[in-house]
Amino acid sequence: MDTTEKRKVILSGMQPTGGLHIGHLTGALRNWVELQDEYECYYTIVDLHAITVRQEPAKLRRWTLDLAATFLAVGIDPERSHIFVQSHVPEHTQLAWVLNCFTGMGECSRMTQFKDKSQKFPENVNVGLFAYPVLMAADILLYQADLVPVGADQKQHLELTRNLAQRFNHLYSETFKVPEPYIPKIGAKIMNLQDPTKKMSKSDENQSGVLFLVDDDAQTINKIKRAVTDSGNEILFREDKPGISNLITLYHIATGKTIQQIEADFAGKGYGEFKKAVAESVVEFLRPFKERYKEIRANEDYLRNVLIQGAEQARQVASRTLQKVYKKVGFVQL
Ligand code: TYM
Repeated sequence: MDTTEKRKVILSGMQPTGGLHIGHLTGALRNWVELQDEYECYYTIVDLHAITVRQEPAKLRRWTLDLAATFLAVGIDPERSHIFVQSHVPEHTQLAWVLNCFTGMGECSRMTQFKDKSQKFPENVNVGLFAYPVLMAADILLYQADLVPVGADQKQHLELTRNLAQRFNHLYSETFKVPEPYIPKIGAKIMNLQDPTKKMSKSDENQSGVLFLVDDDAQTINKIKRAVTDSGNEILFREDKPGISNLITLYHIATGKTIQQIEADFAGKGYGEFKKAVAESVVEFLRPFKERYKEIRANEDYLRNVLIQGAEQARQVASRTLQKVYKKVGFVQL
């Protein structure tokens, strides 16, 4: 019996803009893997989003395949989930155009990611960067997604997506599913190890505060041992201890131990000992991923086949939604 029709739908995306870090894993990928059992999942490599900041073409090509290999290496199963590249499914840009015409300028200019990126790249504040969240809304709404597993930084974009879906449904009758964000309770915002008041980000100038998934073991250990910690010497998960709380989060993810258990285990022990334990656990946690990644990345034919199959499956669903939208807004159907 084919039950796929009845399963609820997940869509999420990630930019192919170079080395992924541990935040991508804890905020998003970890949940992507888990949710495969229960949901029909669409996972996309958003290359169209990536060019909102300047990219070197050869690197963008390489990073796109790197990301496909990462998805597979963390455990996304192409037999159950659909892995595809955004630019291979033209319906994303087609729906984005329509949604652009229903989005206020003010709505886009309020987005914190837009504000951050226009500050970071003041020489290239382009229209694509401004309209970025509308393309993201199109990514989600094309698949009638019920849930969107993301880190905390994407919450605002999800709110815009929901508003656009509701607005369109209200104007033209029920067309889009209104999606819910799915943000993990722990790990939704991993902070930079050198500045734990700032989100870990791959474009951070201070790379020694970013734990890249492909760092070698010595680099991972060094970065964790040199992490900035808070005054005092207690291992407690507390708002006024952002450095230690960040490390507790990583230890929790790597070992599966609860926060309370971690606090109890390290009561009376110092920061040095704790950091050593965190470093070792993160190295062990990443080891199987790194091994699988190397193997899968070496097989480009396989990667391309996964992406061909994923794009075909995605287009079937995306084109249905787009046709509905085109019809509703009044485009002549031939
Ligand atoms: P991107 O590529 O910046 O990040 C991918 C995912 O990783 C999460 N993330 C983090 N989680 C915890 N701690 C961190 N330090 C951290 N850094 C990143 C992000 O929240 C995200 O879930 N706009 C999106 C990509 C996108 C998308 C979509 C996502 C495009 N279309 C449709 C969902 C649905 C972005 O820039 O993610």
